[in-house]
Amino acid sequence: MLRRGSELVVVLIVTLWNQSFQKSIHNTAGPFRVIPRYVTHCPPALQPAQPLDFYVRQTRDRHDPDLWYYSGNFTTLFTWTNDHDVDINVASWSSRGGWKENAYIFRVKHYCSAFKTYVPQAWRKIMLAIHGDANADCPWPPGVYHVRNMSTDFRIGALPAFYYGKWRATLRLMENNYQDTLGCFVAYADTVPRGGL
Ligand SMILES: *[C@@H]1O[C@H](CO)[C@@H](O)[C@H](O)[C@H]1NC(C)=O
Ligand SMILES: *[C@@H]1O[C@H](CO)[C@@H](O)[C@H](O)[C@H]1NC(C)=O
Repeated sequence: MLRRGSELVVVLIVTLWNQSFQKSIHNTAGPFRVIPRYVTHCPPALQPAQPLDFYVRQTRDRHDPDLWYYSGNFTTLFTWTNDHDVDINVASWSSRGGWKENAYIFRVKHYCSAFKTYVPQAWRKIMLAIHGDANADCPWPPGVYHVRNMSTDFRIGALPAFYYGKWRATLRLMENNYQDTLGCFVAYADTVPRGGL
């Protein structure tokens, strides 16, 4: 049960494993732990005309350092349909300073059916947390949505080792073949040696 939230992260990292790029910016890799730092709004340049309004609160489990809880809300101004796409761009903090963009680029067309197919357990968990129904399905009308204490496990069993460092993922909901942004947020995380906090 505990590990189910991590499938999405597994797919992200495994799919776009880009070793030569990483070698150029990180020297050290090994058994690791992912520490999500925080989620925030995108810089204005990446924002749509009417930015998505959201609040996220993250807390860590007292006993299991890989388990986190998320609560919050978001307000949508349009109907989210399966015609929308998701673009995730991961930047890596360079040991020489500064963000290196495009460490991993991950694009998902028709995110709704894609996530349902490829990460069904994570998707059902998110649906349950937002809609109170694991089988909830898009489209979603405009409105206020609440996320209630959704547990997410950042143990990534599929990857025994990874580069240590700081990461910044920019996630955009897009339409018109990645021309237009509908919503955008940024998540920061660190990878540290397993056993580290
Ligand atoms: C969303 O959460 C924030 C922070 O907890 C709160 O101030 C705000 O009133 C909430 N908005 C809605 C629409 O529930
Ligand atoms: C969230 O769920 C965990 C595990 O059930 C619980 O320990 C924690 O108190 C909950 N937090 C909130 C804010 O409800």
